[in-house]
Amino acid sequence: MADQAFVTLATNDSYSLGAMVLGKSLRNHNTTRKLVVLVGPNVSEPRQSVLRRIYDDVKVVDVLDSGDTAHLALMKRPDLGVTLTKLHCWTLTQYSKCVFMDADTLVLSNIDELFDREELSAAPDPGWPDCFNSGVFVFRPSVETYGKLLQYCTEKGSFDGGDQGVLNGFFNDWATADISKHLPFVYNLSSIAIYTYLPAFKQFGGSAKVVHFLGQTKPWSYTFDPQTKQISGGSQEAPTHPAFLLDWWTLYASAVVPMLQEQYGDEPFLTGCMESQESDTTVTTETVQVESSSSHAPMEPVMSSEQRKEQWEQGQADYMGMDSFDNIKRKLDTFLK
Ligand code: UDP
Ligand code: GLC
Ligand code: MN
Repeated sequence: MADQAFVTLATNDSYSLGAMVLGKSLRNHNTTRKLVVLVGPNVSEPRQSVLRRIYDDVKVVDVLDSGDTAHLALMKRPDLGVTLTKLHCWTLTQYSKCVFMDADTLVLSNIDELFDREELSAAPDPGWPDCFNSGVFVFRPSVETYGKLLQYCTEKGSFDGGDQGVLNGFFNDWATADISKHLPFVYNLSSIAIYTYLPAFKQFGGSAKVVHFLGQTKPWSYTFDPQTKQISGGSQEAPTHPAFLLDWWTLYASAVVPMLQEQYGDEPFLTGCMESQESDTTVTTETVQVESSSSHAPMEPVMSSEQRKEQWEQGQADYMGMDSFDNIKRKLDTFLK
């Protein structure tokens, strides 16, 4: 098992917090595989030091190395963005097989069985299910594949400006060639799916193995009160799947904050400190208090008023009526105005 690894990426200090929680969640569920994090040179030394305590290998990859063919491709297409740094994971050739996980994912149970799968295995993207979501995927490091991926970037670019577009272009028979490469959705459960198909979430969400906090607002964008277990702030958006968000914060506060405090002193580290916040500051500081998903059936997104909140908490959500996606969206739209 020493030649297999879970791999994640953090190009900056904010995402490094996600990587810390992800690493801890993998350890807590007793993975037998190695843990590797790719970091950008901008990740500060104290953060790298915490990462070294959680991960077997903290590898600095140069996001702006002009000698790197990927970067030359980026020069032509600057919109491709830093997520292309993810492609570096194919260079980890000391491992024969790896599972890449976004830094904004959280593991809810042991998922070592993913190593039974082949490259390129991934779950459908909730927005366009003929594409796979590149937040969780099984791959085989290979210099040859890495080279081909860079060549693909240069010649074809990325249809979404990030790694997911490149990878779906490159592994373009994923949707049709081999069903064993379709990971069950519970290995990459994202908020968008919960909003768009609440009954399915109610039915299957309890089997979630990996939750993916996909989208602009990340768990570390919020503020947490460990006494009351309240999560507040974020952006204008209402929190996405609050029960999972509380799982993230509970693990962060109990396991990661003490390590950060050893590095930085007694700062609380419980506020949306984190630098890659969205620029707009018209914040709706709605607070959501929820039970952890590990002690309860999956909870649906909690919206607005105390009354609605209580009903949700009592499991009385009216999925097809009052709490339908349209109504939730309308509510979100009022936040955005
Ligand atoms: N990432 C990073 N720095 C960034 C943006 C992204 O390290 O500034 C990495 C990180 O591992 C992150 C992944 O790239 O989880 C994909 O980005 P993100 O999760 O924000 O995309 P989403 O899943 O929301 O589409
Ligand atoms: C997706 C994926 C993410 C990827 C991004 C850019 O939404 O969740 O992992 O980095 O698109 O392609
Ligand atoms: Mn992500």
